Amino acid sequence: MLTKEYITEVKNRGNSDIATLVNAQRDVGSINYILESLGTLPNDFNPDFLYNLLRHNHSQVRLNAVKNIAKLNGKSDTDSLYSLYQQETDTSVRREIVSAIGRQRKCKNKPLLYSFLTDADPKVICQAIRGLLVFENDKEVEEHLRPLVNHENEMVRTVIYKEYFAKEKTNKNSMPHAETYDFLKNIVVNADVLDALKFVPDESVHLTFTSPPYYNARDYSIYPSYQAYLEFLDKVFQETHRITKEGRFLIVNTSPIIIPRISRSHSSKRYGIPFDLHPYLVKNGWEFIDDIVWLKPEASVKNRVGGFMQHRKPLGYKPNSVTEYLMVYRKSTEKLLDWNIRSYDTKTVEESKVSDGYETSNVWKIDPCFDKVHSAIFPVELCKRVIQYYSYKGDLVFDPFGGSGTMGRTAKALERSFFLTEQESKYFEYMQSKQKDSQLFNERKTQFLTLEQFKEAAK
Ligand SMILES: C[S@@+](CC[C@H](N)C(=O)[O-])C[C@H]1O[C@@H](n2cnc3c(N)ncnc32)[C@H](O)[C@@H]1O
Repeated sequence: MLTKEYITEVKNRGNSDIATLVNAQRDVGSINYILESLGTLPNDFNPDFLYNLLRHNHSQVRLNAVKNIAKLNGKSDTDSLYSLYQQETDTSVRREIVSAIGRQRKCKNKPLLYSFLTDADPKVICQAIRGLLVFENDKEVEEHLRPLVNHENEMVRTVIYKEYFAKEKTNKNSMPHAETYDFLKNIVVNADVLDALKFVPDESVHLTFTSPPYYNARDYSIYPSYQAYLEFLDKVFQETHRITKEGRFLIVNTSPIIIPRISRSHSSKRYGIPFDLHPYLVKNGWEFIDDIVWLKPEASVKNRVGGFMQHRKPLGYKPNSVTEYLMVYRKSTEKLLDWNIRSYDTKTVEESKVSDGYETSNVWKIDPCFDKVHSAIFPVELCKRVIQYYSYKGDLVFDPFGGSGTMGRTAKALERSFFLTEQESKYFEYMQSKQKDSQLFNERKTQFLTLEQFKEAAK
């Protein structure tokens, strides 16, 4: 029976015993098992049988043969690999060949690697780029690679941008990542968010969690058209992107909505807000990270399925909507998450760690909250999870559509600061009245400001 130990023993015997073992196998599975178990190859390894396997009719065998040939590094035969590349149709094998040629690190292979840059498969191009980047400070290589920053494929563009352009970009903001401006901490501004944000400096908030108006489905804001509504949100999240610190998160809570029919001869209209908003966010530099589904009990939502229950006629099916989305985005950056985390001191990192009982899936079962004054408030539990999972203690969290201020109060309770804007005076006053009842706001006094007062504070 073939075992890893036996294969290693045969490999180390030298000569061509391993080739004999491979040739004796009748089934593809066993050949692949041997090839996948070879591990590192001894210096005197005879690779002839691997080159023969490049002509095998099974693509997995060819792939494993190339992978082993790649281990020979500078000693592998470029011509055999290249002639397979020219006729190979399997994408995995083609990528592996380019990787193997790159690993040879031979200057004379540069023209070959340049030719791979026009391949139709972006992953082949990325392998060729990797192979070329080993020639550090090589002007000729740079001349071939730099133009790819305009390549049609986003993966290729990102690799080239990171290598040649990101380093040239300097950060205008000198404020350390974990810190922010005092005049933004625990502030509620009674104004249109777009007016207030004019006075907020670049890269000053750590997290934004918000639930924008539901187009014209509720009474607090009216837009002339759905397009106008989306364009308004586009501007808000463009500005939010500007004031967000590098690599930090935006979480938008929305759901499809229904605008009821105007008469029995019309039908109601459904708008897919999360899906329509998404392209605007991505266009503005928000990288899509996750979709979290907020699941509510069926008894808490409007009954839409009632009619269907009676008639049972196909096409007339209308399920009860028990979900909303939390769309998670990150401000695009070349830096890894680790860079963000390392900008906090050990004590903050320790104290911000999320304790047991955290959500493990992207479906969060949470009861909705109902309020006498505001018709669409966040449940505290929803805010708690978002704040704990996506910010550190001491961070500044922002809600452009403050409403009754749930996000602010929860942020405060979790030892973060908050910055809220709310345009409706009745909700602004409601927040103020809630402050009186709540101890949570008292620790660091919350300031409720008009736009003028905020403008003064920002000076
Ligand atoms: C869905 S509610 C948010 C409720 C909030 N999450 C809470 O827990 O109470 C949206 C809020 O955005 C406010 N709003 C709408 N347009 C605004 C704008 N241009 N600037 C600031 N606030 C706005 C509305 O008045 C409403 O209170």
